[in-house]
Amino acid sequence: MSRLIVVSNRISRPAGRGAAQTGGLAMALTAGLRAYNGLWFGWSGNTTPEFTGEITTTRSDGVTIATIDLEDIDVQEYYNGYANRTLWPVFHYRIDLAAYDRSFNQGYDRVNRRFAETIRPLIGTDDIVWIHDYHMIPMARELRRLGVKNRIGFFLHIPWPARQLVTTLPRHRQLVEALFDYDLIGFQTTEWLEAFEDYLAHEVGGSVLADGVLEAFGKTVRAGAFPIGIDAEDFAVQVRSAAAARMYDRMAAQSVFRSMIVGVDRLDYSKGLDERFLGFELFLKDNPDFHGKVFLLQITPLSRDDVDTYQDIRTQLDTLSGRINAAFADTDWSPIRYVNRNYRRDELAGVYRAARVGLVTPLRDGMNLVAKEYVAAQNPEDPGVLILSRFAGAALQMKEALIVNPFSHEELSEALKRALTMDLNERKRRYEALFDGVRKDDVTAWRESFVKALEATPG
Ligand code: G6P
Repeated sequence: MSRLIVVSNRISRPAGRGAAQTGGLAMALTAGLRAYNGLWFGWSGNTTPEFTGEITTTRSDGVTIATIDLEDIDVQEYYNGYANRTLWPVFHYRIDLAAYDRSFNQGYDRVNRRFAETIRPLIGTDDIVWIHDYHMIPMARELRRLGVKNRIGFFLHIPWPARQLVTTLPRHRQLVEALFDYDLIGFQTTEWLEAFEDYLAHEVGGSVLADGVLEAFGKTVRAGAFPIGIDAEDFAVQVRSAAAARMYDRMAAQSVFRSMIVGVDRLDYSKGLDERFLGFELFLKDNPDFHGKVFLLQITPLSRDDVDTYQDIRTQLDTLSGRINAAFADTDWSPIRYVNRNYRRDELAGVYRAARVGLVTPLRDGMNLVAKEYVAAQNPEDPGVLILSRFAGAALQMKEALIVNPFSHEELSEALKRALTMDLNERKRRYEALFDGVRKDDVTAWRESFVKALEATPG
């Protein structure tokens, strides 16, 4: 078996901080790499006055982790800049929040080049290379320039937006052309894949050949949809852990005579938290009989707080949760508990299990693994109900959830009422179908199907 080299911006957070903050990508990859004699390469999260390309290596759980430090200007231009102020908003349909700056482009290219130069000597002849996410789109181009002939795959964890949005990017053509230096491109869903094909057809005269082969720029590349899953087996262990049980008991004590609704999301405008709060507010207005009987626990670790749009959304949510609480709270009850702390994955498992409703309503999301973890944590004899945005990639797989339009406060309010009053038979029926899918389409199935497809490319 070939060795797998994975490259991603984020590897993991410093020890002691939990999984919620680590994000979907890092979680999924830790699980995936364990099976291979894998090497995982990425940014340490630290800065250095001058880039040296010095690699720090650690080994944990059969995985070698190699990291480099970046210069402060790299972090500003590449991570806070092109990745999170340009690509992230555009790819999540928020062109109103996108910023374009030539220095961001330069930083993005420079960091990708630096990564490529640093990894180059570590790549053996038989290794396969798997690059992850929007931070690293030009990585194959840089590696090819350095003479790397190995198979290189790319997986995009976020949506690929409609071509009308892609074309708002000043350098969209170069960005897309860079993807043709890969052997395989993976998207989360067929929807994002189709949007990519649509761009090719309309913008660069590309076409789809047999077997999902795409042709454009005088080159060809394979592409497919590979929906990511959770590490269901490991999560089942977390659900049974002592920490989960402790958290479950704590939450259950809080919810005597009360139902808990839970949301867990990084603080990000794509997660639709303001719309969620407003939908919950409407639910409270529409259903006075539920006052005192239900509360929303929204766990939202801060993220990307050097970026102004993230600071803005933070202020907005503080104000909104305060306003709703002030308007509806009683001496012994407040409707929203809005928490910016981060919890460990085992603790979250206990919280999910204690929640009657899981509220996952992003305005746009590549997949969303919280939806899958919420289902996996439920008690099969008395499961809770998942409310899921139709704009999360997960909605294409999780059809037995209550699917909502997160922009509609009415729909959110009605779905909450339906979930909170749903009888046990219906809850069980929906849960069983959902859990089946979560178990079957897990992270192992995802990794194996991508790697197999990459190995099968002509190279
Ligand atoms: C999403 C992205 C990941 C990213 C994660 C956390 O899941 O697809 O690439 O790592 O968010 O964001 P951060 O900026 O903290 O790495």
